[in-house]
Amino acid sequence: MLLILLGPPGAGKGTQAEEIANEYDIAYISTGDILRKAVKENTELGRKARQYMDKGQLVPDELVVEIIKARLMDPDCKNGALFDGFPRTVEQALFLENALPDLNLKIDRVLSLEVEEDDLIERLTGRRVCSDCGASYHLKFNPPEVRNVCDICGGDLYQRDDDRLETVQERMEVYKKQTEPLIEFYQKRGLLSTIDGNQEINEVQKQIKNILEKL
Ligand code: AP5
Ligand code: MG
Ligand code: ZN
Repeated sequence: MLLILLGPPGAGKGTQAEEIANEYDIAYISTGDILRKAVKENTELGRKARQYMDKGQLVPDELVVEIIKARLMDPDCKNGALFDGFPRTVEQALFLENALPDLNLKIDRVLSLEVEEDDLIERLTGRRVCSDCGASYHLKFNPPEVRNVCDICGGDLYQRDDDRLETVQERMEVYKKQTEPLIEFYQKRGLLSTIDGNQEINEVQKQIKNILEKL
């Protein structure tokens, strides 16, 4: 099974992803998490990507495509994958479409999470992320049991560099220009399901599962 979680920054892609990937026993692939790890480890990829990420802009397609090609070779992708934050441009979507037949995979569903812009800004500026496993929390909407400690792995929580207000605004603009066209792209291919992301986290999860059960 191959699923794509599509949605603006802060829509809840990361929050919903882990449980879906576990339930269907497919790999969870977040290009944002992969890039942040590369930045933290100061690899060549990380040094190249950082200049774009800090400004809230997209990392060039060539770099992202290389990441995905390598990642899809990993053994945990044998049953498929859930993509979070990829594809993010029409070029990336076309690359994926061309690469899948050789891997005996096809896209089963694109889940588009819709949330109002004002809510997105509140979600992002109050977000805290685990420095070890990447899990997302929110000071108000989804606080950890112990302050600043990850419920899942005990790691320290931190605020992402790109969750400052100015960068958040730039990310929203970049989303509208470069990523939003993918909604129509996948609608035309009959693959899109729209989800109301303004509900509580558990309600959003239920709605996603309802869609997937019918596949
Ligand atoms: P990436 O890490 O993908 O960031 P993003 O798309 O901006 O999305 P976010 O991770 O900010 O939001 P999310 O939808 O995962 O929300 P979350 O679940 O955490 O990308 C970062 C950067 O990397 C990009 O800017 C770019 O530079 C680069 N990059 C990555 N992929 C790329 C690609 N393919 N091509 C080029 N460049 C790429 O939730 C947000 C907050 O809301 C949390 O605090 C959460 O607790 C809370 N929340 C979640 N759901 C709810 C709910 N239902 N109700 C209330 N609060 C909620
Ligand atoms: Mg995320
Ligand atoms: Zn953690």
